[in-house]
Amino acid sequence: MSQEWVYTLVFLAWLLGAAAFVIGLHQMNSPATARQGNRISAVGMAVAVIATVVWLVSLGVLRTEAILIIVVGGAIGGGAGWWLARTVKMTAMPQLVSLFNAVGGGAAALVAIDDYIRVQGTPEESISTAIFVVLGAVIGSVTFSGSLIASGKLMGRISGKPIPVPGGRITTLGLAALTVLGLLLLVLGADGGPLTLDPTVKNLVLLGIVAAALTFGVAMVLPIGGADMPVVISLLNSFTGTAAAMAGFVINNPVLIVAGALVGAAGGILTKLMADAMNRSIMNIIAGGFGGGEGTVAAAGEGGSVRELGVDDAAIQLAYASKVIIVPGYGLAVAQAQHAVRELAEQLESRGVEVSYAIHPVAGRMPGHMNVLLAEANVPYPALREMEDINPEFDRTDVALVVGANDVTNPSARRPGSAISGMPILDVDHAKAIIVIKRSMGRGYAGIDNELYTNTKTGMLFADAKDGLAALTAAVKGL
Ligand code: TAP
Repeated sequence: MSQEWVYTLVFLAWLLGAAAFVIGLHQMNSPATARQGNRISAVGMAVAVIATVVWLVSLGVLRTEAILIIVVGGAIGGGAGWWLARTVKMTAMPQLVSLFNAVGGGAAALVAIDDYIRVQGTPEESISTAIFVVLGAVIGSVTFSGSLIASGKLMGRISGKPIPVPGGRITTLGLAALTVLGLLLLVLGADGGPLTLDPTVKNLVLLGIVAAALTFGVAMVLPIGGADMPVVISLLNSFTGTAAAMAGFVINNPVLIVAGALVGAAGGILTKLMADAMNRSIMNIIAGGFGGGEGTVAAAGEGGSVRELGVDDAAIQLAYASKVIIVPGYGLAVAQAQHAVRELAEQLESRGVEVSYAIHPVAGRMPGHMNVLLAEANVPYPALREMEDINPEFDRTDVALVVGANDVTNPSARRPGSAISGMPILDVDHAKAIIVIKRSMGRGYAGIDNELYTNTKTGMLFADAKDGLAALTAAVKGL
């Protein structure tokens, strides 16, 4: 088969892969089709990888060492990814995503750096190549170091609180300015540009840019803390996609451009949605100054007394209510209490109680965490209600049952001065009665006290979520 034929077939396979990514992503719009969407995208990726290998083999550029590196690298990387994805706990998902972002960004940066050195002195060294290559190296490097710091924070290896960098914003802005300056220098110094630079100088400038971008990633993420981390991870995810798209331009691979652009755009939209859900602008988050969990304000009613509730009393309140809203949070995921909560809801529904679930956009530790958990327990999708939709209903709710949720119910968010000020919350305190299941008076992710617990309408049922729910279900059954 002629080279041209092979390329046409390989190109078609790449297009097929790209189409599979788009269809797969579209199917992820709904939990009902998300699994299939994932599978379609994975098949698309397999097709794209196989086509690329076929293309390289047909070109005859693969030496034995290169084949060995690809096979061993693929086995180690693929094996580690497979093992991590199989064994990771749902609650540790954000740090894994962050590590994957780091790997993706780092790979894109390495491809760009390698390509920059390779094209030196060849006709390929045009201004447009220089733009894509250097942008790929910069965005990839920022993503690599920023994501490593983000995952370190989520794993608890680095403090989750904002860590100021020496020089503050001036340092961050200075690093950004240095990077842009270096980028301009390399673009103007490319073949056909107005500047003539020695190749060694160019390589040194590139090295300087990469060092500045790596430091920028660290300086950008260290001062961000607490409740802002999900937005940052999503932003870095979007950067990974953009860096991959740049790498696609560099190596002239359309499937990488499409995949990267999809991740970049999807990550960007998710970042905006999450920032909106927390009532923040993205710039405000990057500039720091929110989410540290330090600014615990004296909340109205803070220091007031806490009313402890027994299982039987809680069961009576629930069983004789006509409307109950369940508010799941991170503690539900930790306790793996999704099946237990569905069983309690079914028990209540069998007694004629109307039950729905209030889903806060950042409840848990990853976007859609509560939806995924509850879908796993076969809770019907229509019962899951989004914050804006369900908030007006708390006023006419007999019992709001809060299970392992904390920050997303904290009324101090409505006042300035708290670490979560401005974040929209679920209006749990508007319900006629509130039952909170958690193990202790422990704080949530933002590290602040929750004045909901001292509200006179609130009864605290101190228990592990799974055990507490099971006990409640048994008690309701016995009524
Ligand atoms: P949190 O505010 O983190 O509170 C969770 C509560 O669950 C804790 O106060 C804890 O209290 C309780 N808990 C832990 N283990 C439990 C168990 N086994 N049984 C019962 N309760 C248990 O959770 P939230 O209300 O879901 O809010 C999410 C927070 O995480 C927000 O601040 C959000 O910004 C942040 N965040 C979100 C994401 C995304 S994208 N969703 C990602 C990263 C961070 P006890 O120790 O007293 O039991």
